[in-house]
Amino acid sequence: MPRLDVRIKTNLRARAVYATGPEQREEVVTIRELSLNGALVDQLRGHPDQTLTLLTELSPARQIRLQGDLVRRSGTKGSAVHFYYSDRNTTSALWHYISAQLQQQSTSHCPYCGNEGNAAEGQCGQCRQSLAFQDADYLDVHLLETLAARIQSRIPKLNADHCHKIIKYIDRELLNLQDRSTDQEFVGTCPTMLRVFSMINKVAGTDLNVLILGESGTGKELTARAIHQRSPRMDKPFVAFNCAAIPEGLLEAELFGYQRGSFTGAVDTKKGKFELADGGTIFLDEIGDLSPHLQAKLLRFLEDRIVERIGSKRGHRVDVRIIAATNCDIHQRLENGGFRDDLFFRLNAFCIKLPPLRERGGDKVVLARYIFRKISETGHFTPQGFSEEALKAISRHDWPGNVRELINKIRRAMVMAGSDLLEPADLELEPPAPTVAPTDLHRQVSKSKKEIVLAALEENNYVIARTARSLGISRPSLYSMMKKFKIEH
Ligand SMILES: Nc1ncnc2c1ncn2[C@@H]1O[C@H](COP(=O)(O)OP(=O)(O)OP(=O)(O)O)[C@@H](O)[C@H]1O
Ligand SMILES: [Mg+2]
Repeated sequence: MPRLDVRIKTNLRARAVYATGPEQREEVVTIRELSLNGALVDQLRGHPDQTLTLLTELSPARQIRLQGDLVRRSGTKGSAVHFYYSDRNTTSALWHYISAQLQQQSTSHCPYCGNEGNAAEGQCGQCRQSLAFQDADYLDVHLLETLAARIQSRIPKLNADHCHKIIKYIDRELLNLQDRSTDQEFVGTCPTMLRVFSMINKVAGTDLNVLILGESGTGKELTARAIHQRSPRMDKPFVAFNCAAIPEGLLEAELFGYQRGSFTGAVDTKKGKFELADGGTIFLDEIGDLSPHLQAKLLRFLEDRIVERIGSKRGHRVDVRIIAATNCDIHQRLENGGFRDDLFFRLNAFCIKLPPLRERGGDKVVLARYIFRKISETGHFTPQGFSEEALKAISRHDWPGNVRELINKIRRAMVMAGSDLLEPADLELEPPAPTVAPTDLHRQVSKSKKEIVLAALEENNYVIARTARSLGISRPSLYSMMKKFKIEH
């Protein structure tokens, strides 16, 4: 097999720094040959397997750090150092230097296999490696080939767990595929929920935009997923995006993407959610909170289906179905001018209104039993069911946090309870939990932030808007704290 990257002859002075052991040792060395993956170095005195960093200036005042292992020592040929994978900037700087030298050192020998060939043709006649070093995508191709070769050489060492992780990463992060096994059951037996199910089935086959209205925790996202999973777009991405979870200043970039360098911090070009959902469905949660500027941008997108990344003059046509949701009183927002009529009409081609849990009659108990069963499947818990009292308390309670509150109460009770049957007290339904005064985050300096946030969430039945208000912080800040403290919503 030919070498995987090209080496150039050079005469670069460098410092080799060994970082093994408590004391750092330095040597002045000369790099005789250099490639993206390694170097041949003179005057190295370390021993094989030692880790070291080579510090060198590829051009005046452009120092780079190349970390690697000393793999072989040789007095005559120079010691071989194999680099670890560096960050993108270092790799680019290194390639810039190597390709410039390659063009200067033009030789008739292929730098991969060493055979004499016509390098001017852009490809070695012998090993077929591309010799078009000046091509802008040369480095990208090289990275892909190196990755493939690395995987190939390590395949015997991979086990099923590794494969699982790799496949999941590729599906989720690179191909944006959804895990179908997450198709949760959608439970409902009351007449209103049966009507909702029939609406989901009817609208799924069409390409209409859908607006889902309902209080927090009533199953708006579940409804959106159910529509997508029953639609012809089911094999394409479903991208859920909560418009209230991201600070206003970053929303546009998240939704529409941006070009590298278009603002401070835009280190790389990034696709927005609309592009990621191309061919599939985008679920825009808490749409009622969009700023007038973003409402206008969304409306323009709905009219021409063209996404323009921030900083780009070229638009991309995107085929995406929009399902939007809100738990605010959208009609009041329309009346007071907080939400544009024209945008509302576009989003509201088909409307599904989810009833609050308190209006679902016997479904409270049906759902409680279903949730209990689901949680039981995840581990060993002492409780085996609900007491009669607990079922009555569940029916009586008005569940302001809806299904999410029911899930949280049952999950907590199953962990905490010590007897076979869950009692109302385990579910904190009776006697009513003592009311905690609204928590002001800044005053409670003695408690840990996590405790404060958890207590406030419980107090407010996990209703985000209300919890954020009680803590005196914004919703995006609350979401980011919950993420930081690993609090599930
Ligand atoms: N009818 C249902 N059957 C089974 N699970 C449900 C049902 N309704 C809601 N859930 C579950 O309750 C939780 C909350 O649902 P979901 O996130 O869809 O609500 P939401 O209306 O989007 O809430 P929010 O307004 O807070 O974003 C999820 O775990 C969901 O799977
Ligand atoms: Mg939601």
